[in-house]
Amino acid sequence: MDQLSVEHLLGIKYLKKEDIELIFKTADHFKEVINRPIKKVPSLRDITIANLFFENSTRTKLSFELAEKRLSADIINFSASQSSVKKGETLIDTVNNILSMKVDIVVMRHPNAGAGVFLSKHVNARIVNAGDGAHEHPTQALLDSYSIREKLGSVKGKKIVIIGDILHSRVALSNIFALQLQGATVKVCGPTTLIPKYITELGVAVETNLKKALQWCDVANVLRVQHERMDIKYFPSIREYTQLFGINKQLLDSLNKKIIIMHPGPINRGVEITSDVADSEQSIILNQVENGVAIRMAAIYLLAQQIKK
Ligand code: NCD
Repeated sequence: MDQLSVEHLLGIKYLKKEDIELIFKTADHFKEVINRPIKKVPSLRDITIANLFFENSTRTKLSFELAEKRLSADIINFSASQSSVKKGETLIDTVNNILSMKVDIVVMRHPNAGAGVFLSKHVNARIVNAGDGAHEHPTQALLDSYSIREKLGSVKGKKIVIIGDILHSRVALSNIFALQLQGATVKVCGPTTLIPKYITELGVAVETNLKKALQWCDVANVLRVQHERMDIKYFPSIREYTQLFGINKQLLDSLNKKIIIMHPGPINRGVEITSDVADSEQSIILNQVENGVAIRMAAIYLLAQQIKK
């Protein structure tokens, strides 16, 4: 396979195993490129990309921008807080206005689940979902799997536990789809109030005891509590959350093996993870960030290959 089976990158749900393999193979090449003294290739000189961020972002926005620049694409950036969205313009109007400036690819983060799918049906551009509400965050899941493959040789057969606020996390859902597609076993661990009822239907086991979950896994992917998506209290206090679901060095050292620690960021140090764990040699958090650029270069490059000029 040398082409993606999809026209947009809306979610891992729509991908085949072969798509993920193709993205990884392409990312291997781009990872080599971004470690050269001249970290740039001319591949997308004829492509224009709009980065539309209707929700806050640090890592993902910078990572996409850098990936696009390394591919020599022309880029325009938009963030909702400084735009006419505040004046009542609809999503389709906003995007169509931007597209009339001859944009080929739209990278969009949006607070509503399904925003990317909706847009892909109404506008004439390739859409990359950079996170839609609590739904999917495909490039994050791809870079997470890519980082596991880099560290452990493959994803197949590995045991991964995703810890924390599964209910409100788009990273969790995309990771579950991606890891299972590649033959990994996935468990989730967190307060029962933050684990969706449907999770077992996805073939994911629930473990509420953090130590048991860590003892079982090869990799722990630790998530932030998404307070901004909560309208009620899901657990009594942050202090109790940390006591039951926070990872500290003492807990990590009490396991009879060395597991790998991941986190998509932003980290709440001292809540879901202590600094000495986040910064330990078992943590691959900064490798994830580095790999994010190569993965986003690969995804955008492959989508751009399908655009007929
Ligand atoms: C995540 C997100 O925005 O979904 N972060 C990211 O993209 N690196 C997770 C989070 O906000 O906790």
